Amino acid sequence: MESSNEAMGSPFDDGDLYDVLLGGAEFGLDYYGDLARRAEGPVLDIGCGTGRVLLPCLAACVDIDGLDLYEPMLARLRTRASELGLSPRLYQGDMSGFRLPRKYALIMIPYNAFTHNVTQESQLRCLAACREHLLPGGLLTLDGAFPGLAWIGAEQNVRVLEGEIQDPRTGRMLRVFDTRSFDRVRQVQHSITEIESIGADGAVELLQRSSYEMRRDGFIKMKWLCCLAVWGSNAGRSGAASMAGS
Ligand SMILES: C[S@@+](CC[C@H](N)C(=O)[O-])C[C@H]1O[C@@H](n2cnc3c(N)ncnc32)[C@H](O)[C@@H]1O
Repeated sequence: MESSNEAMGSPFDDGDLYDVLLGGAEFGLDYYGDLARRAEGPVLDIGCGTGRVLLPCLAACVDIDGLDLYEPMLARLRTRASELGLSPRLYQGDMSGFRLPRKYALIMIPYNAFTHNVTQESQLRCLAACREHLLPGGLLTLDGAFPGLAWIGAEQNVRVLEGEIQDPRTGRMLRVFDTRSFDRVRQVQHSITEIESIGADGAVELLQRSSYEMRRDGFIKMKWLCCLAVWGSNAGRSGAASMAGS
């Protein structure tokens, strides 16, 4: 990930904690799962994370590989897979410059992962690598949260409580705070995320402090791809785009 604050660490440095917070999200499961099951050839899940989309596909006998930059996410995926008796083929690598041994009928980049390409150059390198790995007639599909005015226009550099969830590992409540700023020229959102764990006596422990950047532009300069469809979901905040390989 390209980040202005790499020293702080990434939210993807702890796959177990990531799963406590987001592993149960249902976003895109039907959409990506349906496409994967109908694919007429191998499928690649880019930014596969802890396997939220990949594992149900694998369980449904889809021939699917995963790629992710962060080893802790892949480690968590491997653990979950072995608990299910599954053996996924996983690659550690950057989506903006990967080379894998086979080509795919479907490449998918679920749940905002593409937005971690924070420059247009990186977006285009990612799309070029995808094109290199698509079989003739193959399909690339991805999604990204669309930054509405309420989001972009929100007060910057304010620490906001984003949510609370009970940690099933400890029974303690977790509080997730985000401090956001937007670089409107680069069209990049910078976030500092803090996760606090609250004890029964109210004592607060800082579990993770991390930062990340996401590119929040509408989408991409598409020179050599044919855009088949762009549609919204999630109350108009997210969009998915599907593109056919040449
Ligand atoms: C929001 S998570 C989505 C995970 C998964 N796709 C899902 O649907 O649950 C974004 C994922 O992108 C991965 N990622 C971030 N930057 C990446 C990069 N440059 N190359 C490959 N993966 C990356 C992260 O490790 C993380 O697993």
